Amino acid sequence: MKNQCDLIVGIQWGDEGKGKIVDLMAQNYDVVCRYQGGHNAGHTIVVGDKTLALHLIPSGVLNPDAINIIGNGVVISPEALIEEMKQFGDTLEGRLFISDKAHMILDHHILIDQARERLRGAKAIGTTGRGIGPAYGSKIERSGHRIGELRDTQKLTQNLIDYFETYKAIFDAMEIKTPSFDTLKEELDGFAKELLPFVEDTTSLVWKSIDEGKRILLEGAQGTLLDIDHGTYPFVTSSSTISAGACIGLGLNPKDIGKVTGIVKAYCTRVGNGPFPTEDLGEEGKLLGKNGHEFGTTTGRPRRCGWFDAVAVRYASRINGCDQLSLMKLDVLDGFEKVKICVAYEIDGKRVDTLPQSLENITPIYEEFDGWSDSKGVSKYEELPANAKAYVDKIEELTGTKVGLISTGPQRDESIIL
Ligand code: IMP
Repeated sequence: MKNQCDLIVGIQWGDEGKGKIVDLMAQNYDVVCRYQGGHNAGHTIVVGDKTLALHLIPSGVLNPDAINIIGNGVVISPEALIEEMKQFGDTLEGRLFISDKAHMILDHHILIDQARERLRGAKAIGTTGRGIGPAYGSKIERSGHRIGELRDTQKLTQNLIDYFETYKAIFDAMEIKTPSFDTLKEELDGFAKELLPFVEDTTSLVWKSIDEGKRILLEGAQGTLLDIDHGTYPFVTSSSTISAGACIGLGLNPKDIGKVTGIVKAYCTRVGNGPFPTEDLGEEGKLLGKNGHEFGTTTGRPRRCGWFDAVAVRYASRINGCDQLSLMKLDVLDGFEKVKICVAYEIDGKRVDTLPQSLENITPIYEEFDGWSDSKGVSKYEELPANAKAYVDKIEELTGTKVGLISTGPQRDESIIL
């Protein structure tokens, strides 16, 4: 069977509310997979009286009948993953599988990430400081280490010690202290003990699941505008966040991908540095942040807020092949007298309708619409205020993509399925 892996992808700069949609959808799938990123991602979910934080484990973990795969494209901090797994006690056996080809984030990657950000000073990217860039960097420059190498910790430790020795001058210059053989070996032995029971060839596992006709959900992390190639480089994360990343990060072929759902906020936020044409630094931006509780789940940093950028979303929808959009947090716009959508950019006095290589020095061209109140909690399209309906229609028209779901609050039932 072909085209049976449905995919969820962020369409802006991350934090679009993928967590709510994936939680909703995960109940209907047999297999849920992560394919890129690391513990820079995160969402919290409330189950009964417990609040669970997910950074690396796919959201299918809440469905007792689903299996969860962390693909080869993910970078894994063994320490962070072990900590996250503890929340689920011994219930993960046979339900969590980690690719033996996934690269590890080790302490030196985290220290390099933080040192580089310090050295960049005013030009800092504003990373999450989780070692993501250096770990992907090691992978690309072929000095990284895969989880499967925990099967021989003696050899792995020696390889790392040799690497630290070769690059001693660089580590010294960054004031990074590297571990001794014994300390490192002990740490890696601990990781091996906890993680190896879950490590396997996940590409074969996904293929087998496809052959058996299982329903598979692919869960993207971060967002399209943070993609290493197609995002706002260099203010991006270090992985392929777009739908095509799922092929690389799991070992799928393009024909395996089925329905693609783009997750997009009814306005726009960004955390970290970098250009953001529709950012609103005034009172309205502050109000969006306040009403939308816009603080990063992983780092707690306040998110920058602004208006819906239809140019960027149209681009993102095309690059991901979105069949539909889930429009999140529409209720956050409740109470605004006027709401704005950026319909084009002005660059050097010219109107531009496509996303340029650089988003610096852009003036957004806005269309303004009458606002509404009382969309909060609405679950039937008919009950949505007329101006809110007009806003959704405009988004469909400008992005060329139909809206399949409107979210009007954090709860599962605060959703309009169209
Ligand atoms: P890194 O992924 O930690 O290297 O950070 C690079 C950029 O991506 C920074 O601007 C981060 O704020 C941003 N970023 C990384 N992960 C997320 C996420 O899950 N949501 C939103 N922004 C993120």
